[in-house]
Amino acid sequence: MAQRVRGVVATEAGAPVTVETVVVPDPGPGEALVRVQACGVCHTDLHYREGGISDDFPFLLGHEAAGVVEAVGPGVTGVAPGDFVVLNWRAVCGECRSCRRGRPWYCFSTHNARQAMTLADGTPLSPALGIGAFAEKTLVAAGQATKVDPAARPEAAGLLGCGVMAGFGAAVHTGQVGRDDRVAVFGCGGVGDAAIAASRLAGARQIIAVDVDARKLEWAKEFGATHTVDASREDPVERIRELTGGEGADVCIEAVGRPEVLKQAFYARDLAGTVVQVGVPTPDMPFPDIPMIDFFGRGGQLRPSWYGDCLPSRDFPTLVDLYLQGRFDLDRFVSETIPLEGVEEAFHKMERGEVLRSVVVL
Ligand SMILES: NC(=O)c1ccc[n+]([C@@H]2O[C@H](COP(=O)([O-])OP(=O)(O)OC[C@H]3O[C@@H](n4cnc5c(N)ncnc54)[C@H](O)[C@@H]3O)[C@@H](O)[C@H]2O)c1
Ligand SMILES: [Zn+2]
Ligand SMILES: [Zn+2]
Repeated sequence: MAQRVRGVVATEAGAPVTVETVVVPDPGPGEALVRVQACGVCHTDLHYREGGISDDFPFLLGHEAAGVVEAVGPGVTGVAPGDFVVLNWRAVCGECRSCRRGRPWYCFSTHNARQAMTLADGTPLSPALGIGAFAEKTLVAAGQATKVDPAARPEAAGLLGCGVMAGFGAAVHTGQVGRDDRVAVFGCGGVGDAAIAASRLAGARQIIAVDVDARKLEWAKEFGATHTVDASREDPVERIRELTGGEGADVCIEAVGRPEVLKQAFYARDLAGTVVQVGVPTPDMPFPDIPMIDFFGRGGQLRPSWYGDCLPSRDFPTLVDLYLQGRFDLDRFVSETIPLEGVEEAFHKMERGEVLRSVVVL
């Protein structure tokens, strides 16, 4: 029988989110019902709330979550009731042209639950990134629930579901950061700091953190930044050149989502270096004004990173192991834990730069 739970809903662009009754159907074929234990507040939730992702209001927000599988529908074999899972928005199909070419991390036809969760009056909800986990329970495609070691704290493990995985993968998968690399990370929120931590784990030679907020730069050092640049006080391109002996960084990671920052990342790079774009722009933003001769003349690669090119089934268990071994400090991303009612205020704290991640605990 369908269940009624509480969930955080965005009803129109720019309006404060509210806690509403959400009707969650029983899992059908290929679906799993998950009791959410924790869900982080990601900047992408705020993008949804602002209407920057699509106009499919009302949205059921939340997508960085961990929880326990409560029930599964017919035909589900990958997870079972009682499993501790991290939710993902890349349940690969195995059949699209990208999967068939052996590149499932780009899967163009990822699975979501077929049945809609609704408001009490029957209005269908659009779950953020096909998840919708600022709710006591959520319905997902079974492939969106990745089983991990239950020794991990849900508040920490859930963060792998989006921002931390995206930042980590932006560095090691998309940017292919390795031992000899000098890396610059623009934007030191949850995503950027995960890119910094990943660069340290990969053995990068120098890790330069760039932000406009001094507090964020302090935190970035705790994740492994070897140098910091306050872009509100100095030109990050000049400063990165200075710090790299006039050469520029081998890998520049844009984790803000703004054209002027992409432009800085482009020019802060050494010849033949890589720019990774993991920050999400809004539809009104143009590509930065860059002479084509600079694009050609500087060589290298410009690489957008969707979800850090991750494969949840491969990467989540690995990162949970690193966390449990004390090698990847997921706890450090958790600035505070809040109830469902705290999400709107958490957006403001995020905008004021007071938190890395507020995490809803249920
Ligand atoms: N590509 C993906 O798959 C993916 C996944 C998750 C999140 N994201 C995106 O990544 C971006 C970062 O997410 P987050 O949760 O870390 O956000 P956040 O708001 O916590 O962090 C953004 C950081 O950028 C800094 N910043 C703002 N303007 C800047 C500037 N001009 N120069 C340098 N730094 C600046 C802010 O001070 C803040 O520390 C967002 O756009 C988010 O939507 C992308
Ligand atoms: Zn596919
Ligand atoms: Zn996210």
